[in-house]
Amino acid sequence: MARLCVVGMGYVGLVTALCFAKLGNSVIGVDKDINKLKLLSEGSPTFYEHGLDELLREGLEKGKLSFTNDINRSIEQSEIIFICVGTPPGENGRPDLSQVEEVARSIAINLKSYKLIVEKSTVPAGTAERIKQTIKLAGGEDTVFDVASNPEFLREGSAIADFSCPDRIVLGVDTSMARTMLKELYRDFDCPVLITDIATAELIKHASNAFLATKISFSNLVADICEKVGANINLVVDGLGYDRRIGREFLNAGIGYGGSCFPKDVKAFAAMAGALGVNNTLLKEVDRINEDRIGAIVKKIEDALWVCKNKRIALLGLAFKCNTDDIRESPGIKLVRELVRKGSLVTCYDPKAMDNARGELKNLGDVLSFAETPYVAASEADALVLMTEWPEFVQLDFLRMKKLMRTPVIIDGRNMLQAEEIEKIGFWYSGIGCHRGNRKSKFQYDN
Ligand SMILES: NC(=O)c1ccc[n+]([C@@H]2O[C@H](COP(=O)([O-])OP(=O)(O)OC[C@H]3O[C@@H](n4cnc5c(N)ncnc54)[C@H](O)[C@@H]3O)[C@@H](O)[C@H]2O)c1
Repeated sequence: MARLCVVGMGYVGLVTALCFAKLGNSVIGVDKDINKLKLLSEGSPTFYEHGLDELLREGLEKGKLSFTNDINRSIEQSEIIFICVGTPPGENGRPDLSQVEEVARSIAINLKSYKLIVEKSTVPAGTAERIKQTIKLAGGEDTVFDVASNPEFLREGSAIADFSCPDRIVLGVDTSMARTMLKELYRDFDCPVLITDIATAELIKHASNAFLATKISFSNLVADICEKVGANINLVVDGLGYDRRIGREFLNAGIGYGGSCFPKDVKAFAAMAGALGVNNTLLKEVDRINEDRIGAIVKKIEDALWVCKNKRIALLGLAFKCNTDDIRESPGIKLVRELVRKGSLVTCYDPKAMDNARGELKNLGDVLSFAETPYVAASEADALVLMTEWPEFVQLDFLRMKKLMRTPVIIDGRNMLQAEEIEKIGFWYSGIGCHRGNRKSKFQYDN
């Protein structure tokens, strides 16, 4: 069993630390944020993710897990150091790698014996070389260490399951020592392990996220065409998805992708390609289509209500997707801002993300309110907009909703409701990429 130090206790770092501790390794979780460390040391997770609280308590109780802001001692006591700090968007779409650089400098001044330094943060190809250079410059030429890339593919909402049973593990290494140590660490995982050079591993992560984002933007482009020709995107993507070369996943049309990864990673990949003189038009277009989605939702509201000003809009879903409380780059949050800018009065509801949203949107004043239930949000509303695919939204009593609302308008940004049933109740229903009035059963396929 290995002695690990995981630097950065965010979504990726905390899950990494807990899962490796569960496997029997001794793990020190390091962060700069004292409040986070206090909560984690007390056994309280700092964000919502299914199964996190049990794993955290188990790791602490078994003595396999500890948390500290003392990076120097943590490095000294560990064999393998995982870098899991943030790589937020910087200037011109390029990622801001200052958190990674800061960790590299901390490592440099604490290298008293061999360490394996593993990048788990999503970074542009070539970053490991920068880390090596920084450590050598700050730590001296005779320091002994390896740098490896082990990109993380977990999805928020199913992070522990994704980490524990990944589709593949990618190990970018350039020494046999690094290869042996990482293969040993991952020996209990039952999935393909792809061993590559470091730049290839770094690139696989950016290319994966850019490809998934491309699928989503492609579906949204097709959805726009569907609306013009009276076709139904839900059936179009099913038709596409049955083709095994295409696959059905990540083809749902809707409000576009959000979260802390896809938007920044597509921009970063495009910026990197551009800087290298590679044509990045495709990536820029993927990003542009995505940015346009909020405008498309506003247009649907205006199609129904004519003007947004002074209208009461009930917005259900602030998390960027279901099963998380993460609101980073959330389309729901962007829509709130846009509606308020247009003079609407917005009432929001989300099962998990309300606290985060309250903090993020506190400067919007009393034109924005938060409701305790979806029904309270819908009271006296002129339109209801669904922005996150929380399963509980499908179960709502829409007859009750209709009675509570001022005008019966539903904009379904996730195509999650049965349009015909909603229309039967008497709603004006507008989904994405399905022409109003063109969803009759004769268009359903047999199976
Ligand atoms: N969130 C995801 O779903 C996901 C999935 C795969 C990969 N990634 C990538 O993983 C990386 C981390 O993402 P995240 O969502 O966990 O980020 P995050 O912002 O949630 O967490 C980063 C953490 O690092 C800490 N930190 C920053 N500088 C530090 C330092 N010098 N020393 C100690 N701690 C420091 C911050 O306080 C914060 O707690 C990013 O590169 C991201 O692109 C994220």
